[in-house]
Amino acid sequence: MPITLSAVRDPDAARAILDSLPEWFGIPEANDGYVRDVSDEGLNCLFAHDGERPVGVALVRRHFPRSAELHLLAVCADAHRSGVGSALVERVAADLTADGASFLTVHTVGPSLDHEPYRRTRAFYTAMGFVPLEEHHRLDWDGPTIIMVRPLDTPA
Ligand SMILES: CC(C)(COP(=O)(O)OP(=O)(O)OC[C@H]1O[C@@H](n2cnc3c(N)ncnc32)[C@H](O)[C@@H]1OP(=O)(O)O)[C@@H](O)C(=O)NCCC(=O)NCCS
Repeated sequence: MPITLSAVRDPDAARAILDSLPEWFGIPEANDGYVRDVSDEGLNCLFAHDGERPVGVALVRRHFPRSAELHLLAVCADAHRSGVGSALVERVAADLTADGASFLTVHTVGPSLDHEPYRRTRAFYTAMGFVPLEEHHRLDWDGPTIIMVRPLDTPA
């Protein structure tokens, strides 16, 4: 079944996706926040479906006309490595490029913490064209956060 992408807002589907990922999304209050964010009209929201089943979600915050942040990206555990995450990122990047943005950033757990699941996450972002920009401690949580950036194809 091909993956379809659509700009729907489905908090229950986001909850189910996050619940399948306890190694990445294990803090209930943080997950509650992400589920609320799905209904926040200030964020762009994109879902991936495999047939009828929601298998991935992306939330994007447009900080400035030239830059946006991938606020949330999550794919159901049993759908990893089947192209869902890359389909979401490429659609987000294409939409932003068409709308004049030049940079897409993401915050994730930094390499100073030796944690295998987030090593996989950083490998994914690297494969998607993101470059490590900065690492900070106690930025989003008590440990290290890496900020990665993907230049978009917008003319300067
Ligand atoms: C990170 C995540 C969104 C990636 O989505 P995905 O659908 O599994 O990724 P894709 O199948 O589109 O992978 C695209 C490419 O990224 C790279 N990649 C993906 N997973 C990887 C892994 N575990 N190790 C190394 N490279 C990986 C590969 O180059 C892959 O292409 P290939 O399969 O042809 O080799 C997903 O695994 C996920 O939800 N992880 C848990 C939550 C998370 O980390 N969210 C981001 C928090 S900031």
